[in-house]
Amino acid sequence: MRQGRVSKAQRRAYSDLLPLYGVPFLPSALDFDRLFGRAAPKILEIGFGMGETTATIAQEHPENDYLGIEVHTPGVGSLLKRIADLHLENVRIIQHDAVEVVEHMIAPAALAGVHVFFPDPWPKKRHHKRRLMQPAFVALLASRMKRGARVHACTDWEEYARQMLEVLSAEPVLRNTAPGYAGRPEARPETKFLFITGFGDQFPELRELIKYGTNILQKPFLPSELLRKVEDTLSQGEAATGTEG
Ligand SMILES: C[S@@+](CC[C@H](N)C(=O)[O-])C[C@H]1O[C@@H](n2cnc3c(N)ncnc32)[C@H](O)[C@@H]1O
Repeated sequence: MRQGRVSKAQRRAYSDLLPLYGVPFLPSALDFDRLFGRAAPKILEIGFGMGETTATIAQEHPENDYLGIEVHTPGVGSLLKRIADLHLENVRIIQHDAVEVVEHMIAPAALAGVHVFFPDPWPKKRHHKRRLMQPAFVALLASRMKRGARVHACTDWEEYARQMLEVLSAEPVLRNTAPGYAGRPEARPETKFLFITGFGDQFPELRELIKYGTNILQKPFLPSELLRKVEDTLSQGEAATGTEG
């Protein structure tokens, strides 16, 4: 499991709050209503990163329950802290591989929605098979969705967007509600991302951080001095920075 840097606050949230809001991985289907203490629509989010989008959506939609899956410990700590700060009652977390969670812990037709926001793009061709959105996984996800449930997926990696559209459109159980690509729905807030293209040897420190096959970094992962240097370079137009959406 990838660990990365964990801040003090994230570590404290992790140890104090994981027992309250975390769900251990078990190879048996969850009783969702029991987990959240009520019957309400259940939305699964895969790879919530630092959890800012998850927390915002959960706060704006108290009528839904959100189960977030993430493998990365600083992200889990970060979302736990947001849950406590915002007094969210409708979020639970599983720190485990999403494919195994969906396969073993989600009952058929249990979900009212699935969120997959900026999954790792695995840009190198030989790594494409590691991408999350593959036909078999999409079929598995579809089997866990209720009639009328929605998958909401987005990426800022053009070629991955094409693959997502192709794979989702080819799944017979799903129907695209947009004519092709859909725009950003208002329900998904914008968050700042730094996506790094073509830095080469310019910042060898970044190479160290980009271990996971992605060219996207979230700013909280960067030491502030390095972030300043990178942003200076970006502002000179030598690479691209972006706001997702
Ligand atoms: C590029 S980040 C996007 C984070 C977040 N969705 C956002 O929009 O800010 C992708 C995240 O997916 C997580 N991830 C990748 N594969 C995963 C898997 N199989 N199971 C759970 N999490 C995964 C990574 O740890 C990473 O935090």
